[in-house]
Amino acid sequence: MNLSELEPAIMQILSDVEHPKYKQSVTDLGMFQRLEERDAEKVALFLKTPDEDRKSQIELETSIRTKATAANLPVRLVIKFEVDPEMQIEDAGNRIKGVKNILAVGSGKGGVGKSTVAANLAAALSLKGYKVGLIDGDIYGPSIGKLFGVSGRLQLKGDGKNNIDPHEVKGIKIISFSFLLNPDQAVVWRGPMLGKAIEQFLFQVNWGPLDYLILDLPPGTGDVQLSLAQLIDLDGAIIVTTPQNVALQDASRAAHMFFEVKIPVLGVIENMSGFLCPHCGKTSHIFSKNGAQAFAAKFHIPQLGQIPLQESIMESGEIGLPIVLKEKDGPIAETYFAIIEQMNKEIEKFR
Ligand SMILES: Nc1ncnc2c1ncn2[C@@H]1O[C@H](COP(=O)(O)OP(=O)(O)OP(=O)(O)O)[C@@H](O)[C@H]1O
Ligand SMILES: [Mg+2]
Repeated sequence: MNLSELEPAIMQILSDVEHPKYKQSVTDLGMFQRLEERDAEKVALFLKTPDEDRKSQIELETSIRTKATAANLPVRLVIKFEVDPEMQIEDAGNRIKGVKNILAVGSGKGGVGKSTVAANLAAALSLKGYKVGLIDGDIYGPSIGKLFGVSGRLQLKGDGKNNIDPHEVKGIKIISFSFLLNPDQAVVWRGPMLGKAIEQFLFQVNWGPLDYLILDLPPGTGDVQLSLAQLIDLDGAIIVTTPQNVALQDASRAAHMFFEVKIPVLGVIENMSGFLCPHCGKTSHIFSKNGAQAFAAKFHIPQLGQIPLQESIMESGEIGLPIVLKEKDGPIAETYFAIIEQMNKEIEKFR
């Protein structure tokens, strides 16, 4: 028997077997050691492990055997584990493989423009050449699909094997509850199911390599937001608020929520910060002035930017093309580019 001919087939199988504890493939973990011929139809496969965890070993053996049978391997495998205490396994923690930065966009209050900000932030990052994914975490009012003009249904299989391909608009990968429901179907998801669904959005979508994965949180600071924020090791949260006091009170709650679970708050974006009159070009502060600035000072976080209340922002939401993509050289796009720059500095500070 020619072991060097057998090896690629075995490596293929191992690359498809996930370690139950470390959630990475046997090949990615560097567990493969060598093959040794035992007799005409028996080959010993030596795998390196960092510990004596028998339970994981049994699970690994079972799935390697099953896959070997399915692949019609011409030999029987005898799997041998060799403990190597020096073996370094990088704990992936609650990370998504290949995703560099995972950020949440949240606010205490509904309707302040979180989804619009999340959509435009994703668009601006993409224009800057970053690879971007966007998760609409809002079950009761999913709006990211509408903001990008996509609605096709996707199958959420959730069997752990068949991942979902997200929708892709202008290079931005998008997943939303609205892709899973009929537009007029009543929402039947409940707490635990909701958590499960978001977990699948995070871990069972083919995100591929991403520089940024943005999570648009639903409004509020209840259990739902908290558990969403904790399902994954977030690199940071961005708070969106409007300038008036009522919104700021709710934003404070959001800030406290993130602080409590030790998620770095990267800063606050003031949305609908002043009304830019399309007729006279003047700005009026219908929602009071500089609220977010005071908020930022109080919490010792930066104000990342101010977005005016502008008809064209609302309209671009209606036509399904974020303003940053519609007016790539416009002042709103410029504002978002500046936000990105500052945001990246903040991310680095918390690394
Ligand atoms: N700067 C802006 N200028 C004008 N309209 C805006 C602006 N930001 C958001 N809007 C509009 O306000 C409405 C609410 O925005 P959006 O859905 O983004 O808020 P949200 O905070 O995500 O709401 P929810 O709490 O329901 O998730 C939308 O119609 C949107 O087009
Ligand atoms: Mg929203």
